[in-house]
Amino acid sequence: MQRVEQEIDRLIQECEYDEVERLFKTLSGGKRLRAKLILKIASQHKDAPLLAAIVELIHAASLLHDDVIDEADTRRGAASVNATEGSKTAVMLGDILYSKAFTELVVFEKDVAQTIAASVTALSKGEMMDVNMAKSFNSDEKKYLDMLYLKTATLIEAAAKASALLVGKDAKNHALYGKNLGLSFQIIDDILDITADEKTLGKPAMNDFVEGKCTLPYIYLYEQLNADDREKLVSFHAKKLTDSEIFWIKAKMAEYKTVEKSFQLAQNLSDEAKSILANDEDLVNILNIMIKRSY
Ligand code: FPP
Ligand code: MG
Repeated sequence: MQRVEQEIDRLIQECEYDEVERLFKTLSGGKRLRAKLILKIASQHKDAPLLAAIVELIHAASLLHDDVIDEADTRRGAASVNATEGSKTAVMLGDILYSKAFTELVVFEKDVAQTIAASVTALSKGEMMDVNMAKSFNSDEKKYLDMLYLKTATLIEAAAKASALLVGKDAKNHALYGKNLGLSFQIIDDILDITADEKTLGKPAMNDFVEGKCTLPYIYLYEQLNADDREKLVSFHAKKLTDSEIFWIKAKMAEYKTVEKSFQLAQNLSDEAKSILANDEDLVNILNIMIKRSY
């Protein structure tokens, strides 16, 4: 991973602007899940650290823009760039990281470059769907999972596929592994928003629903509630919740086991990914660690 960090630093320095270096240093690197995946799959390839650095820059750019769109004050436990430097700076820094990543991508074979590039169109579409869906209470599970796939899983799917292409491994199986890992990862993230506290999350708890996002535990709850309670749940949508409203939502979720049901789906997706690449101990391990972040 040290080589990935070196590549990231090199790309940032090549932007030749102190302000970009200064701002980039304020960002927390996060878990580097996508980079780790690329290094595991294409470990023997000399350009794997560069590909990993490119994908991490794209991911960082997407989060900078996402925090502007979501008007989020925190990211990974620290103040977001839009909170400290303003939205204009956050957008411009995102643009620079994103375009630098694409400049570097052209050194790769067409199939590798195309895989990563296409996934960025998909994740941008996913973000737009997420924002549009948050305008009203969404109770459609399929619509939600389709959006999740685009917003979060496509870049992970592309990272797995592109690194497999780089070293001549089975691209289709690795893509499917990455897709399931990405979906499962995001479902666990959605669960943690409900079950973890603010200190662990690095952002306010129960924030998704306040932002208008009806994640799986809310969708499954809606399916179970009677008409009066459905109306009550919908009336809480996209607004700051009082303690007693949070208590009511959590009690109903416990009654109908909607967090457990969501976790079951994440577990099934993870198991499916394991069965696809059962012989690859490292990739199976990534799934085990990811699912253990759970509630
Ligand atoms: C986080 O979702 C957001 C994403 C994973 C994707 C955001 C994508 C874009 C803004 C478009 C792409 C733009 C560029 C420059 C590549 P979330 O809000 O559900 O998660 P959070 O709680 O971590 O904010
Ligand atoms: Mg967000």
